[in-house]
Amino acid sequence: MSRLVVVSNRVSIPSGGAKAGGLAVALNALMERQGGLWFGWSGKTSNDAKSIGTPVMVEHNGVDYATVDLTPDELEYYYNHFSNATLWPLMHSLPEQMNFDRRSLQTYRGVNVRLAEVLLPMLRPTDTIWIHDYHLLAMAAALRARNISCPIGFFLHTPFPSPDMLSSIPEAALFIRDMLSADLLGFQTNNDAENFCASAQRIAGAARLAGGGLQLGSRQIRVGAFPVEIDPQEFAETAERCGENAETGRLRRSLDGQSLILGVERMDPTKGLRHRLAGFRRLLESRPEWRRQTTLLQIAAESRQDVDAYQYLREDLERASGNINATLGEADWTPLRLLTRGVSRDAIAGFMREARIGLVTPLRDGMNLVAKEYVAAQDPDDPGVLVLSKFAGAARQLGAAILVNPVDPDEIADALDTALRMSRPERQDRWQACWEAIKDTSALEWGRSFVQALGRAGTEIPRSARP
Ligand code: F6P
Repeated sequence: MSRLVVVSNRVSIPSGGAKAGGLAVALNALMERQGGLWFGWSGKTSNDAKSIGTPVMVEHNGVDYATVDLTPDELEYYYNHFSNATLWPLMHSLPEQMNFDRRSLQTYRGVNVRLAEVLLPMLRPTDTIWIHDYHLLAMAAALRARNISCPIGFFLHTPFPSPDMLSSIPEAALFIRDMLSADLLGFQTNNDAENFCASAQRIAGAARLAGGGLQLGSRQIRVGAFPVEIDPQEFAETAERCGENAETGRLRRSLDGQSLILGVERMDPTKGLRHRLAGFRRLLESRPEWRRQTTLLQIAAESRQDVDAYQYLREDLERASGNINATLGEADWTPLRLLTRGVSRDAIAGFMREARIGLVTPLRDGMNLVAKEYVAAQDPDDPGVLVLSKFAGAARQLGAAILVNPVDPDEIADALDTALRMSRPERQDRWQACWEAIKDTSALEWGRSFVQALGRAGTEIPRSARP
């Protein structure tokens, strides 16, 4: 059997203290089941040639984890600037938040090449390589340029923008061609896959193939949607257990009979937090009957604080939440509780079980696993209501939620009002439809289906046709 080599910016070493974002959670299941090599950034910086050039190896449960440091300059220009201040807003179609400069672009390309060179000696001819996310758009091309002919897959965890939007960065065509060095390109939704194919055709001159692929020169590339999944059964059990733990009990007592509205995310400009607070304010202003009857608990874990847009967002949210509490609160009632630190997975599961409304309103999101977790966390007998942005990838599967336009505070306020008033039978019907959409999926199956499709792409494409 071919060894699986996963490459991603962050590597999630179990009990290694690394940050476990959506990507890490999704990939852990596959790696722990089938073993292999997982390569990427250590999360640290150094100027020492050994630390940046020689990977530190850790073996755990059949998985070899190999990580290298970035230099402080690489962290600044590859990660903070180009990945998170250029590509991240670009992928989420938020041009007003996008910065571009050539130095960052050069460093980004340099890091993709450098990581490919560090990986090279660890590769075997029979490996299957799976590269992840917007940090590593140029990695497949860097490996091909170094004569790696193993099957290479690439999966994008974020949305993919329209061709017009993509054209707003210089070198868009080069990025597309770089991505087309892979044999299989996976996206979260058909819409993202279609945006990529349209861009490949219009910007990079690729031809479309019947059956969903692309042709560039003599090469054929498969393109498909592989929506990331959670482990719904496992999350449901955790939520049921944690719904009764001490932390959830304290939250419940503090609510004193009020309905809990819950938001959970990283503090990120794509998550629609400014608009969400405006929507909550609109609810309390336009329907005063909900005052003292409901509390919004917004967990917005601090993230990427070296990027300006994230610092401004933090300041705005602190100001807006202070303002809501100062102008709408009462001596004995605080409408909004904002937490900017991370909260444990168990606590989140318990809070989700307690919440009458899960409020998930990103401006754009690749998938949004919080929406799926909220569904899984509910008590089937008395479930809460999911209010979900129609621009989250998850909305394709969770159409029975109340879908909203996340930039419209009135629509958010209307949705909250509807959800707070919703009868138990309607809540049960909507929840059942959402649960049916996710209950038989798993993170492991998501990973397996991609790797299997990559195996097929590898055999469908003649070796001679690879660069
Ligand atoms: O694709 C988005 C993603 O990589 C997620 O996997 C994760 O939640 C998040 O970004 C982590 O961001 P960072 O690595 O910058 O902390």
